[in-house]
Amino acid sequence: MEKYPGKKNTAVFISGKGSNLKSLIKYSKKKKSLIKIILVISNNPDAEGLKYASRSKIKIYRINNKSNFENKSLKLLKKYNTDLICLAGFMKILSGNFIKQFSKPILNIHPSLLPKYKGLNTHERAIKNKDRFAGASIHKVTEKLDSGKVILQKKVKILKTDDVRSLKKKVLKIEHEIYPKAINKFLTNL
Ligand code: GAR
Repeated sequence: MEKYPGKKNTAVFISGKGSNLKSLIKYSKKKKSLIKIILVISNNPDAEGLKYASRSKIKIYRINNKSNFENKSLKLLKKYNTDLICLAGFMKILSGNFIKQFSKPILNIHPSLLPKYKGLNTHERAIKNKDRFAGASIHKVTEKLDSGKVILQKKVKILKTDDVRSLKKKVLKIEHEIYPKAINKFLTNL
């Protein structure tokens, strides 16, 4: 019998600090959440986010990029009956083959108002272009980088006084707010 009936077995992939992972773990513990986080995989063995995950009694796996990351992850995802992957600050590009083999949904959070600023250094680019707004988007992962269907996004105003650091902080705050909402929206409309 399912331990958490109705909740999707979810794997979170990270590479760094893990503040989004933290917000997803908090959300997953809520009665109304639609996910149960069953494992966290990091391609960076030193990712800070791993500490929080293991304190939360979630299985963690470190698989560095040189050691067949995709095949090892696929085996784990299968072993844990994973229904959904959430990328949360995961800085490696997954191949089309991986996406096909996993065959279930993969979501990503990206720190820009997609389709603007795919890839890296999103805040630098928004400030340099004197944009009035920045923001974050949650989208489905496809073979094409940061190009899958957007599920949810939210804007923040860029003030004249903002620099990359302050903007990053503001955007991260909304990321933590909208990732759980996007998951709920996505899973409810499946
Ligand atoms: C977040 O801003 C996330 O949107 C971004 O990395 C940061 C990770 O922070 N992701 C990407 O740039 C993916 N291309 P976190 O480790 O504290 O969640």
